[in-house]
Amino acid sequence: MLRIYSKNLLISMMCQKRLPHQTFKRYNNSNSSGSSWKILRLNHIAIASKTIEESSTLYKDKFRMETSDKHAQPDHGVNTMFVDCGNTKIELLDPITDCKSPIENFLDKNPTGGIHHLCFEVDNLDAACLDLRQRGLRLLSDRPKIGAHGKPVIFCHPKDCSGVLIELEQA
Ligand code: CO
Repeated sequence: MLRIYSKNLLISMMCQKRLPHQTFKRYNNSNSSGSSWKILRLNHIAIASKTIEESSTLYKDKFRMETSDKHAQPDHGVNTMFVDCGNTKIELLDPITDCKSPIENFLDKNPTGGIHHLCFEVDNLDAACLDLRQRGLRLLSDRPKIGAHGKPVIFCHPKDCSGVLIELEQA
């Protein structure tokens, strides 16, 4: 019997055929003290620019996305504004000018701005720090600090992360 498939159905069948290539497996990430941890989701992608007023116009006025207010984070030397992307957020950053901001070097190298870091939520940040140190990954501070969401965060050295600055945040 001749079956007539719609074009969309055929496309979805072809796509389903590719799915086995996207089978994921999780590795055991217990540390030596026996406490395990895992990454839960991408919390935000941070974009640094000279001024949040300028960088936010794309998301607010052109893409029409929802944004938070701009907040100063004096402990981190930056101002932040969050953009709601549905499944994650964008964290817009600009430097607080009256202190040495950690994003100044980045802006010297990237004067028009760019992706500054990725932030993953973890279920057990202390266990993650211990485990990652034991695996030879350098962290940028001895212990977590309180981040932009009022939760403990720590940054991983970009040289140990394929050139990407990665922030880990306690969920
Ligand atoms: Co961040």
